[in-house]
Amino acid sequence: MSATHKIAVLPGDGIGPEIIEQAIKVLKAFEQKFNTRFELTYAPMGGAGIDAEGVPLPASTLKLAQESDAVLMGSVGDFKYDNLDPKIRPEQGLLQIRKALGLYANLRPVKGYKCLEHVSTLKAEVVNGIDVMVIRELTGGIYFGQPRAREGQGAEEKAYDTLIYTQPEIERIARIGFEMALSRRKNLVSVDKANVLASSQLWRDVVNTVAKDYPGVELSHMYVDNAAMQLILNPKQFDVILTENMFGDILSDEASMLTGSLGMLPSASLGQKKANGQRNALYEPSHGSAPQFAGQNKVNPIATILSLAMMLEYSFGYAQEAAQIDQAIERVLEAGYRTFDIMGPGATEVGTATLGDKIAEALIQLPAPVGV
Ligand code: NAD
Ligand code: IPM
Ligand code: MN
Repeated sequence: MSATHKIAVLPGDGIGPEIIEQAIKVLKAFEQKFNTRFELTYAPMGGAGIDAEGVPLPASTLKLAQESDAVLMGSVGDFKYDNLDPKIRPEQGLLQIRKALGLYANLRPVKGYKCLEHVSTLKAEVVNGIDVMVIRELTGGIYFGQPRAREGQGAEEKAYDTLIYTQPEIERIARIGFEMALSRRKNLVSVDKANVLASSQLWRDVVNTVAKDYPGVELSHMYVDNAAMQLILNPKQFDVILTENMFGDILSDEASMLTGSLGMLPSASLGQKKANGQRNALYEPSHGSAPQFAGQNKVNPIATILSLAMMLEYSFGYAQEAAQIDQAIERVLEAGYRTFDIMGPGATEVGTATLGDKIAEALIQLPAPVGV
């Protein structure tokens, strides 16, 4: 293999730069091991975009993302931007890039490592072997619906958002859900609030219609309040969870705790397949910029490193090779090296950079997969 692939790297704010640095270390090890090359171009976004150009998604950053084969992102947001005009908050940059690249399908795999079974706040027998894929619709719903506004003064002041979905928006994400279920344990739970919300009633109808094309998938529907409870009661009942934007935001943070820490949860955000067979794609940890830990070399880089592995698989077709990143992580965790959030008895606490070094070294040391 000797192709060159273009990656836009957007470290962002807070812990973003330090976790991205670890993913890049692992990427360098991957290049060395598998004799391939990636062209990396860094650009500011989020608070870093505001500092550099006054807006959270500078035009040059968006252009770079559009011209790249994939985007690798850290995280955005910091306390220091909390009092800015809401329209130019760092988080707006993330919503804008998702919308501009058409990244409607957000995949958040919740996969437990055996050696971390006892790290979760839930009992080991509840979470061991956990393997759930949360599919979150990412460019519709209440995050983007119009009208939205805050207006009036005093007792007349009011604010509103609009939760709106169209049939095609639901159909395309439902298809992603069914296809994902087909490639896994063939079970799909669609989560909605159809007992109350009109948007959820349409959601459920469209999902049921799409289901006719996938007779091999067992589909069920669950209300979001019950789903939040079932995820803690009996998470192993789930294979693929399909849900709308805001429910998916909340349920995926909850589900991350099945693995032990939000610092373990990666994500891939994918767009529609283009004529050349490629999809626009952005890879980022599911967590935020945890600004209280920024610059302390403390937080867990694994969610970001796993997001890199998803990029190598989904955008560049290196599924077998990327699986070795997962194995390298497992080896390092089994050897007892952990950041503070996944510490356990007998483990050795290390910082962000050391964990990144160890995972990159372990990747180099693993025997290459057969046939690669
Ligand atoms: P957060 O996800 O940044 O952090 C919540 C908590 O999770 C932290 O206090 C920490 O205890 C833990 N945590 C998160 N990442 C971790 C890691 N890698 N290792 C160990 N522990 C980790 O959420 P928040 O505190 O609600 O938000 C902070 C900022 O991040 C806000 O500005 C928010 O808008 C932004 N945010 C950005 C993204 C994104 O860029 N995709 C996602 C969520 C939140
Ligand atoms: C996430 C984040 C974002 C979201 C914010 C920062 C806009 O929480 O990626 O989960 O709500 O989608
Ligand atoms: Mn979130």
